[in-house]
Amino acid sequence: MTNNTGILPFNGHRVQGRSSEPFLDTNEILDQLDIKGNENFMDAGCGDGHVAIEALKRLSKGKVYALDIYEPSVEDLNNLKEKENIKNLIPIKSDIADKIDLDDNTLDIILMVNVFHGFKATNHLDEAISELKRVTKVGGKIAIMDYKKQDTKHGPPYVVRSSPEEIEGFFKKHQLNKVLLNNEIGEDIPEGKSHFLIVFEK
Ligand SMILES: C[S@@+](CC[C@H](N)C(=O)[O-])C[C@H]1O[C@@H](n2cnc3c(N)ncnc32)[C@H](O)[C@@H]1O
Repeated sequence: MTNNTGILPFNGHRVQGRSSEPFLDTNEILDQLDIKGNENFMDAGCGDGHVAIEALKRLSKGKVYALDIYEPSVEDLNNLKEKENIKNLIPIKSDIADKIDLDDNTLDIILMVNVFHGFKATNHLDEAISELKRVTKVGGKIAIMDYKKQDTKHGPPYVVRSSPEEIEGFFKKHQLNKVLLNNEIGEDIPEGKSHFLIVFEK
């Protein structure tokens, strides 16, 4: 089974976007998040779930929620959970821009890798941010990793990309303040680094 770019994820799970596993270093991303090991962590827009699966190694006393809107991705993660008896992996099918199937104030850390630009493309920024905020605990963090706003060979079109400053503005409207910005992360491309990672606190 291939995804819509024809690239097969390493773990064989079905995806409707492009898995970042071949071109982003998951541990470089997780290293930014100051994970203690007992948190409720969510990989939001998890796709093949490779970030959630790596995060499980750091969260032996916590829970890892892996959420996607695409049913087959969630099904594959449920099959993995059952096969490997991974009690603290919780796959969820939800639309972030509509209703996340979780109670208010549940999560300590939410990470979204290569997902946020989709909400700009569909004009659902406020709905998505409000839902992410609702399920985050007070003092919890929402981390967005996405493509820098530059014209590059790979990645989403320039018009749907946002700069970290623009994202900061979107989150400020929801009373969420920036606590970290890493402007030099991701893949080495001719333009420099491919991504940024920005973190907000509730
Ligand atoms: C480009 S893929 C990235 C997948 C993964 N985060 C990675 O880095 O490999 C985008 C993912 O976001 C999911 N997605 C898009 N819109 C969503 C929404 N509104 N709610 C939940 N998931 C969504 C897609 O189904 C897809 O799996």
